[in-house]
Amino acid sequence: MKVIGISGSPRKDGNTEILVREALKPFYEKGWEVTEFFLSSKTIKPCTGCETCKETGTCVIKGDDMEFLISEFEECDAVVIGSPAYYRNVTAQLKALFDRSFVFIDRKILAGKLGGAIAVGRGEGGGQSLVLSIIHNYYLSMGALCVPCEINGLSARADKPGDILKQEKRLRQARILGENIIKYAEMMYRSR
Ligand SMILES: Cc1cc2nc3c(=O)[nH]c(=O)nc-3n(C[C@H](O)[C@H](O)[C@H](O)COP(=O)(O)O)c2cc1C
Repeated sequence: MKVIGISGSPRKDGNTEILVREALKPFYEKGWEVTEFFLSSKTIKPCTGCETCKETGTCVIKGDDMEFLISEFEECDAVVIGSPAYYRNVTAQLKALFDRSFVFIDRKILAGKLGGAIAVGRGEGGGQSLVLSIIHNYYLSMGALCVPCEINGLSARADKPGDILKQEKRLRQARILGENIIKYAEMMYRSR
C-alpha cells in the first residue's frame, strides 16, 4: 500500500510540512510505502491552457516534477494534501499542481482512492475552511474519496514556521487523519 503526502507550502519545514509529516506517521508505522512530495523543494510549472493534452494525452511542459508525481499517483492508494491559506485560497504552487492534473483527468488515475486534507492559516477563520473545500473539490473532481479527520479535514491556526509544534491537539488530529485513511483503506481492501 502506498500513500503520497503533498505539502503546498513554499516554506520548507513550515507548519504545513510538519502537519503532513505527522499525518504520514501512522502509514510508516503500518508499513505503507510513503512518498513525501513537498512543493518547497519541487517545481511544477503552471498550466498554459493549450489543451494539447486533450489530443495527445501528454503535457507539452517538460522538465519539472509533474511527470514524477503522475507516476506516483498511478501507483498510490491514498493521498494527503496540506496547504497554508494564502489569501483564503491554496498556494499558487498547489494550484499549479491541480491545474496540471488536467492531463490525466480522463485516465481516472485517482478514482476510488482515498484523500485527506489539511489547512493552516494565521487567522481564526483565516480561510482554512475554504482551503479544505478546495482540496476536497480537487479530490472529488478526480473521483477520489474524501476522508474525514475528527470532523471534515484538519483545520489549524499557526503563523511562524514551527508554531504548530506547540499544539499537541492539532498534531494528534493530523495523526487521526492518517489513521482514518488507513482504516478506510483496510475496509475497502477487505470488501474487494
Ligand atoms: C502570501 C501570504 C498570504 C497569506 N494569506 C493568509 C490568509 O488568507 N489567511 C490566513 O489565515 N493566513 C494567511 N497567511 C499566513 C499563512 O497561512 C501562515 O503563516 C501559515 O502558517 C503558513 O504555513 P507554512 O508555515 O506551512 O508555510 C498568508 C501568508 C502569506 C505569505
